[in-house]
Amino acid sequence: MRVLSFASQKGGSGKTTLSGHIAVQAERAGAGPVVLIDTDPQGSLAEWWNEREAPVPAFAQTNVSRLLTDLDDLRQQGFKLAVVDTPPAITMAIQSVIAVSELVVIPTRPSPHDLRAAGATVELVERADKPLVFVVNAATPRARITSEAAIALSQHGTVAPVTIHHRTDFASSMIDGRTVMELLPGGKSAEEIVNLWGYLSERLEKNFRRTVFQSRNPQQRRPGLPQRGQFGKRQIAQEA
Ligand SMILES: Nc1ncnc2c1ncn2[C@@H]1O[C@H](COP(=O)(O)OP(=O)(O)OP(=O)(O)O)[C@@H](O)[C@H]1O
Ligand SMILES: [Mg+2]
Repeated sequence: MRVLSFASQKGGSGKTTLSGHIAVQAERAGAGPVVLIDTDPQGSLAEWWNEREAPVPAFAQTNVSRLLTDLDDLRQQGFKLAVVDTPPAITMAIQSVIAVSELVVIPTRPSPHDLRAAGATVELVERADKPLVFVVNAATPRARITSEAAIALSQHGTVAPVTIHHRTDFASSMIDGRTVMELLPGGKSAEEIVNLWGYLSERLEKNFRRTVFQSRNPQQRRPGLPQRGQFGKRQIAQEA
């Protein structure tokens, strides 16, 4: 099971919106079964999912103390991808999710305030030696600040080649548990999500292949850094 998380200490950057959209798109693209995991006590993703009529993706609410055992249970239930939404500002919770993620997506709005705040999240991801990717979210079409933001972010890590623009269908689709792909199939917003998932799935596969290769060639591991995949199975089973 691949684990993809959305994290940003900055509130309102688009973690929940993009988690829901990417999970739905992954399922549509055949990468499922997908499970969405909400680790945010605010429960916004849970509220969205409860409104949702479609049976997929599956949903699991969890917290820091249960995260590892819940992931194990979900893995054993046959899920192929877990998409994890995280709360803003709660460093402990974000750290725990990062530790079990294979790729961390940091949604960032192209505003000076969001750009300044991105550094704190990057630090958490780097400390855990996990790959990260920024996604510029809620960008205004043709605004100069969008490209400036991408340039500024690229100093700190990879920026997804797909920008998600600010459109009301992102907000309105979420009201009744849907996504832009279900509200306006073939629309510009849907196209962006399709392309973003295409990019993220490639990154996940590349990282996975690298992890497998590293575990077969232990001498190539970087000394002194935590190794990927060390958060293995726990012995104690617990109900999901
Ligand atoms: N691309 C977009 N276009 C339009 N509105 C958007 C877009 N992305 C997010 N929003 C809106 O911005 C608000 C915040 O988004 P969201 O809840 O996904 O952020 P978050 O990072 O999960 O917030 P929090 O940190 O509070 O959990 C929501 O009202 C959402 O509908
Ligand atoms: Mg949220």
